[in-house]
Amino acid sequence: MSKPPRTSLASLVHQSELLVTCGPGGVGKTTTAAALALSAAREGRRVIVVTVDPARRLADALGIDGSARSHDPREVAGAVTGGGSLWALMLDAETTFDRMITERSADVAQAQSILSNPVYRSIAGSLAGAQEYMAIERLHQLATGGEFDLVVLDTPPSRHAIDLLDAPDRLVKFFGHPMYRALTMPSRSFARVTNATSAAFVWAVRRLAGPTVVEDTINFFRALSGIEVGLRERAAEVGRILRAPTTTFVLVSSPRAEAVDEAHHLADALAAGGFPLGAVIVNLVHPTPTPLSDVASGNLHALADGALSQQAAFHRELSALACSERTQVAELEAAAGPAVVIEVPMFEGDIHDLAGLAALAGLLAPSEEHPVRA
Ligand SMILES: Nc1ncnc2c1ncn2[C@@H]1O[C@H](COP(=O)(O)OP(=O)(O)OP(=O)(O)O)[C@@H](O)[C@H]1O
Ligand SMILES: [Mg+2]
Repeated sequence: MSKPPRTSLASLVHQSELLVTCGPGGVGKTTTAAALALSAAREGRRVIVVTVDPARRLADALGIDGSARSHDPREVAGAVTGGGSLWALMLDAETTFDRMITERSADVAQAQSILSNPVYRSIAGSLAGAQEYMAIERLHQLATGGEFDLVVLDTPPSRHAIDLLDAPDRLVKFFGHPMYRALTMPSRSFARVTNATSAAFVWAVRRLAGPTVVEDTINFFRALSGIEVGLRERAAEVGRILRAPTTTFVLVSSPRAEAVDEAHHLADALAAGGFPLGAVIVNLVHPTPTPLSDVASGNLHALADGALSQQAAFHRELSALACSERTQVAELEAAAGPAVVIEVPMFEGDIHDLAGLAALAGLLAPSEEHPVRA
């Protein structure tokens, strides 16, 4: 079922089961994710906010000590007094990967043979996409586990957010690739049916990397078989969850030209991938100064150097900045399509505590904007 145009963010926070914040670097994705999660929790929902990268500021705002990053969700103390609850989780790619292998292996021997495999050890934490795959595993657990009414997923800056979105599809393709199929066949049939292309490939890798690496790689992929089926199924399911009508993408940007370019690119990528964009947040907007009358402005121009003329110069600068920001906001409105666009002013200081998050939530999703939950 498609959403009616311009549903308020408050309603989306109220109804969605998965909210994903994405956008360029440093524009407030993490802060927004935490604020929206807090808002939903305070209206009685059981909410978890998940960050893919260990974002320090989210950790601070939610009272999670970065050094004690844990695999298990932690309840945020003092966030909610009513019936809802707020939980937070940070992902650590390598331990999540190990845990997934241990949990999914048929037995201890299979787990051991994978975990001790040098190829596995070298890719577990550093493989491009490993974090995204693990985010998928975790997202799948959280979204289907029934423990939470709403999962709020914070993402790294835009380039990686696209990686995250692509990851389920890439993973499915990877496991379906003929080379993967050939490598994971039992050795005898592998020897029999290996075609000229894969034989040439294996020969080339053997020459480049040495025979041990080839054996390790083949062993690694063979050991993975069995696990791969579940991984592929979950990736496909997460691909569907990310596109479900109960999912809302919240694109965060600032009104700066470079950020808006990236946000535009990301909005296009979301549309192309069929991911539902529900809101665009233009964060860190400067106030538009009250325009001066022509006479006042002319008089101030004529002033000699001094405090007042400096203030006049500042006024002109701020007016010019606000004017260019208007152009950028218009650009974002065009990119947003039917999604609601919300402007958030730059606060006086960082948003680093629950009170700050609540103030931000009040601007993003005022509670009177949706029907009260029964
Ligand atoms: N409206 C605002 N007014 C003032 N400060 C803000 C506002 N929104 C966010 N901030 C501050 O900006 C900084 C960056 O915010 P945040 O970490 O949420 O950005 P991010 O997009 O998640 O960054 P990254 O791309 O590095 O993950 C933080 O210090 C946060 O407190
Ligand atoms: Mg962040």
